[in-house]
Amino acid sequence: MTGTRPWRILLIALLVALAGAIGGWAIFLRPVPQPATHDPIAHFNHGSIGNEAVQGLPYWIWRVLPVVFADHLPGDGEGYATVGVFWERGEELPVGFAKKTLGVIPRVAPNCAFCHQGSYRLHPDAPATLVTAGAGTRVDPQAYIRFLAAAGTDARFTSDRLMEEIRAIYDMPRWERVLYRYLLIPATRAALADQGERFAWTTTRPDWGPGRIDPFNPVKFQNLGLPDDGTIGNSDMMPLWRLAYPDISAERIVSVHWDGLLGDLHETTVAGAIGDGMTSRSYAEVDDGIRWITEFIGTQSPPPSPFSLHRETTDPFFVSVDAVEAGRSVFEAECATCHDPAGDRFRTVIPQAEVGTDRHRLDMWTQEARDRYAAYEPGYDWGFETFAKTDGYVATELTGLWLRGPYLHNGSVPTLRDMLRPPEARPRRFYRGYDLVDAENGGFVSEVGTPAERHGWAYDTALPGNGNDGHRYGTELPASTKENLLAYLKTL
Ligand code: HEC
Ligand code: HEC
Repeated sequence: MTGTRPWRILLIALLVALAGAIGGWAIFLRPVPQPATHDPIAHFNHGSIGNEAVQGLPYWIWRVLPVVFADHLPGDGEGYATVGVFWERGEELPVGFAKKTLGVIPRVAPNCAFCHQGSYRLHPDAPATLVTAGAGTRVDPQAYIRFLAAAGTDARFTSDRLMEEIRAIYDMPRWERVLYRYLLIPATRAALADQGERFAWTTTRPDWGPGRIDPFNPVKFQNLGLPDDGTIGNSDMMPLWRLAYPDISAERIVSVHWDGLLGDLHETTVAGAIGDGMTSRSYAEVDDGIRWITEFIGTQSPPPSPFSLHRETTDPFFVSVDAVEAGRSVFEAECATCHDPAGDRFRTVIPQAEVGTDRHRLDMWTQEARDRYAAYEPGYDWGFETFAKTDGYVATELTGLWLRGPYLHNGSVPTLRDMLRPPEARPRRFYRGYDLVDAENGGFVSEVGTPAERHGWAYDTALPGNGNDGHRYGTELPASTKENLLAYLKTL
C-alpha cells in the first residue's frame, strides 16, 4: 500500500525549496527598518531610498575596499572622501550613503545626497562647510563607479585578503564569517565586475569629472533596455532647494531637470530613486521616505550668501548697497522673465535654438526613452504622467547662485563673471571640483594657475558635450552695468 508516491516526493522537494527560499530571504533580503530619526537633514543625508538589494554592498566589505584597493581611488586624501563626498567628523558614513540591514546583513548604498550635497570654504585654509542638498560640485560618481569596477576585477579581491582586513577592525562572529567568506565576498566581487561591464560605454565618451554625471543614459541602457545610441548626456548636478513653488498655479507645468523632461517634483523624486536602484518591490517599503524627500526638497533653502553689504569695505565679500540695488533692476529687466518664479517663462522650456547652449544633453533624452520610461514595468503603476521629450533647457531660480558654479547644464562656464562674457571670451580650460568661493568673480576658484589646479579636475570646453556657447543674456551690457549685476547675483 505504501509505495513511493511521486507527488509526495515532489511536495517534500517543494517544501524544502520553499523553506530555502524563505530562509534565504530572511537571511539576505528581509528589510529591517533603519533606526528612526526626527532630524530631517540626517534623513536626507543617510536615509534609505530602497536601493540596497540592487546597489547595497555588505557593510564590512564596503569598509575595507578602500584599504585593500587604495591604489584604485582617485587623487590623494583618505578612503571614500577621495571621491569628493563630505565626511562629517565622527560620522560612521560619508554624506550620501545609507546603511540598512537586509536579513542579517547591514548594507551600504548611495542615496540622493550622494550627488545632492555641496560644500564651500571662504578661505583656502578654512575647513569646508557642508551644504545640505546642494549641487555636488566635488562629488565624482564616475570615480566611485570606476573604483568599484577596478576592485571587482582585481586578483586581490579574495575572501582571504578581505577577511584579513575585516578581522583587523571587527571581531566577526563565526556564522557571519561563514556568510562573508563563502557567499558575500564572492558574490560582491562578481556583482562589481558585472557593474563595471554595464558602465563600459562610459569609456567611449568624455569623462564626467566631479560635479557631473550622465543622468539618464544608465537608465536607458540598463532599465529601459535601449541600445547604446552614442549620445552624451554629461550634465551638472542641480541643487535641491525650494522646489515647491506654491505660488505658481497648479494648471501650469513647472518643468523639472535641465531639459524639463519631467513636470512634477514627486515623479522626479521617484524617477531619481529608480535610477539609483529602487525597485517596484522596495518602493512600497520606502514610499513614505520618498514622499518625505519630495517635501524636504520643496522647502529646504541654501545657506545665506556670504556676500554682504554689512562687511568692511576692504573685505573681499563686501558688496555695496548701490551696486546691489542697481544690479537688481538690471536683473528685473534682463533676466527675471526666465529666472524669477513670478516670471512668465520661469521653469518653462526655452528652445535650444533660442538659448544656444550645448545640445548634447538635450539629444541624450530621446522620444523613445520618454515613451519607455513613461510605461516602465507594464504590470506596475509608478504613477508617471509628466515625462516629456522637449526641445530646450529650463531656467531655474538662481537662489544660492554663489554655490552653483560652474554654470550651465554642463558646467561649462566657471564663474558668474564669465557668464556675462560673450561665449568667445569665456575660458576654454579651467579646473572644477575645488570648493573655495571666488570672491572676485562669483562661483568657485577655477582658474589655471590657482590652487584649483591641484584640487580640481581639468575641464576642456572643446570636448563633445562640454561646449560653452549660448546664453548671451547680459553679455552686451556696459561694463559698469555688468559689475552691478554681478554684485547682485553674488547675493542671491
Ligand atoms: C548620481 C548622482 C545623483 C543622484 C544619486 C541623484 N541625483 Fe538628482 N540629479 C542629479 C543630476 C546630475 C541632475 C541634473 C540632471 C539633468 O537634468 O541633466 C539631477 C536633478 C534632480 C532634480 C531636478 C532639480 C531641478 O531643479 O530641476 C531633482 C528634483 C532630483 N535630482 C532629485 C533627486 C532625488 C530625490 C534623488 C534620490 C532619490 C536624486 N535626485 C538622486 C544627480 C543625482
Ligand atoms: C529667455 C530666458 C532666459 C533669460 C532672459 C535669461 N536666462 Fe539665464 N538661463 C536660461 C536657461 C534656459 C538656462 C539653462 C541653460 C543651460 O544650462 O543650457 C539659464 C541658465 C542660467 C545660469 C546658470 C544657472 C546654473 O545653475 O548653472 C545663470 C547664472 C543665468 N542663467 C543667469 C542669467 C542672467 C544673469 C540673466 C540676465 C542677464 C539671464 N540668465 C537671462 C534662460 C534665460
